Amino acid sequence: MKRGALALLILALAGFATEARAQGAVDVVATALFDATSFKVGMLIPFRLSGPAVDSADSITAQVLDVESGKCQVMRDPHIGSVFHLKCVSEAETRIVFTVIKGANKKTLFYGPVRVVPFVATYGVPEATPPPTAQELDKLAIEGKKLWVSYCSTCHTDPRSKQGRSAALIKAKINDPDPNNEMRSLKGLLSDADLNKIAVYLKDPTK
Ligand code: HEC
Repeated sequence: MKRGALALLILALAGFATEARAQGAVDVVATALFDATSFKVGMLIPFRLSGPAVDSADSITAQVLDVESGKCQVMRDPHIGSVFHLKCVSEAETRIVFTVIKGANKKTLFYGPVRVVPFVATYGVPEATPPPTAQELDKLAIEGKKLWVSYCSTCHTDPRSKQGRSAALIKAKINDPDPNNEMRSLKGLLSDADLNKIAVYLKDPTK
């Protein structure tokens, strides 16, 4: 591909990604102030126009294309002249056409397509995981005992000597950087789930 054609292709792709440049001129740029995943129904979606043509323009107007009338609107921010807000009342795919007029010159800038999707709340208080039942704890303790026998009993003959130790403490001992720490030999052998089972067993190792 010729260099010129490649540059055009890159410009074209960039235009459809997050910003668009005026056709035939590079002095007006529209940039979305949210990332495209935040384009939601019912919200004001801000775009900023920048470039010398914007600063010295006689008038700038914006219009939506490709959607049924009334579905989406674009309006100029009453406080920040270079910012426009798109708002759609239902799911839509649209383009915004900005028209910049300066004297006898007129520049048209197509932005989009812009996809506006329904709002789905993804935040909030996560559901608390219920504490394990007595039955589940017994099962964990049985598995923990097996792990203890294979991995720990060679050095710690009496499990009661480690009664009540937490998974975090055992993990910290295994990951200790001190080369004289013998428990370092267990590094990478036990998963967090395994360590949790051992800790459950150590709550009452006489069982
Ligand atoms: C290669 C020998 C060795 C193995 C295997 C080993 N440890 Fe240790 N561990 C030690 C030594 C040595 C110490 C330091 C002295 C002490 O506190 O007992 C220690 C310390 C600890 C400590 C910190 C001190 C304390 O009492 O709170 C915990 C907890 C512990 N070990 C639990 C375990 C568990 C659980 C396993 C099996 C997953 C295990 N160890 C496997 C040698 C070992």
